[in-house]
Amino acid sequence: MVHPAAEAGHILVPEELGADITPRDGAGVALPPADRLRADRSDRAVRLEDEEVTERVRVGVIGLGVGRHHVEAYRRTAEAELVALADANETLLRQRQREYGVETGYTDYRALLERPDIEAVSVAVPNDLHRQVVLDALAAGKHVLCEKPLARTVAEGREIALAVRQSGRVFLMAFNNRFRPESQLLKRLVEEGVFGDLYYLTTGWLRRRWILPRGSWFGYRERSGGGPLIDLGVHMLDLALWLAGFPPIRRVVGFTHDRLARARATPEDPVDVEDFAAATVFLETGAVLHLATSWVGHIEARDRVWLEVLGTQAGASLVREVTLAGTVEERCALHEERHGVALTSTPLLVRTDPALSTYQESILNEVRHFLQCILTGQPPIAPVEHGLRVLEVLEAIYQAAAAGREIEPGQTAAGPA
Ligand SMILES: NC(=O)c1ccc[n+]([C@@H]2O[C@H](COP(=O)([O-])OP(=O)(O)OC[C@H]3O[C@@H](n4cnc5c(N)ncnc54)[C@H](O)[C@@H]3O)[C@@H](O)[C@H]2O)c1
Repeated sequence: MVHPAAEAGHILVPEELGADITPRDGAGVALPPADRLRADRSDRAVRLEDEEVTERVRVGVIGLGVGRHHVEAYRRTAEAELVALADANETLLRQRQREYGVETGYTDYRALLERPDIEAVSVAVPNDLHRQVVLDALAAGKHVLCEKPLARTVAEGREIALAVRQSGRVFLMAFNNRFRPESQLLKRLVEEGVFGDLYYLTTGWLRRRWILPRGSWFGYRERSGGGPLIDLGVHMLDLALWLAGFPPIRRVVGFTHDRLARARATPEDPVDVEDFAAATVFLETGAVLHLATSWVGHIEARDRVWLEVLGTQAGASLVREVTLAGTVEERCALHEERHGVALTSTPLLVRTDPALSTYQESILNEVRHFLQCILTGQPPIAPVEHGLRVLEVLEAIYQAAAAGREIEPGQTAAGPA
């Protein structure tokens, strides 16, 4: 039987997203407080404070770079029992096992997948391995939470999407930025029509200085699929397209720059991806979307992340800035005109767990949603189809930049596919 969560393209309103997401004060959304659940690890059942009993999902995590944040989130979540870890780097694997008190670890992820007691896995391996690891996980009957991007190319992404549909398993794209309270708020307001018709979205993630270690797979197109566009741009493009309701794309203009990347390349570390990318994406609704992203560039902050939407009735802006001193500034504001007065208001956003960074919190919310989808059958808010749609636009941007002309997604630079 096909799991209801495998239904394509369904977008949920925030209230449907996991437990306890309820509007507060007409502005914020409340995500579940971390301390509400008390786990009883001695059996599969977990007792909530109000004596409800829920089930736990037995999970494994494959890849322990950013995957460690998945591990931490599962450990904070009563609906998960973390059974095993896998990483090809044995030193790192053993270190993480000790750090998190996980007894079982595998250097070959296939050994983890062979365990019939593990129902779900997070896949957080380098981009060139997403396709194989996800296909193997689905073939082994596991539900999958897959790190972004879905894959390096649309062709790989299509293979994954087909396998997901055939498997009937839950598949969630790890678009963690959707799980920030401010993103959830904007989505709800868009769906309630507060902004009217959206006609302009501008978004981006500019980074001032390389944070890639020398020799990192991120720097090699063959392994990563590209530079900051597929690494950071993927998040912001997803967020903007999700807010806009994933309308069809009419055409794409793209620009990539790689002189700073080439200046960094050495014979031992032949970086061959872009260091900056920008794009204009024309949506079928008539709206236009601007995207800019970099791994290195002469900007004021260490990281500058933004999303601004303009609608016929109102607008909104999100900004997250990591200053050179390392402090983080996050702003979310709504802009409108009432009684002939231009008003800007700052919503009160309810944090799931203020002890966590907003990044950790987004992954906690993402992991909880994944588990809820498995336990209740609700469809994931970031299904494989969204991962694929985003990848199609990214690929079109790269093609448009290489060809020096507009591209329609699904069309190669040489002409229609
Ligand atoms: N959502 C986010 O915020 C976010 C942040 C960073 C990275 N990512 C994504 O997560 C994925 C991993 O990125 P990362 O930064 O953790 O990279 P990383 O290189 O730091 O970590 C990847 C890990 O995978 C392990 N690995 C490699 N081959 C393996 C194999 N065959 N079997 C098991 N383990 C294997 C490596 O040893 C390494 O520990 C990428 O797809 C990346 O785009 C997402």
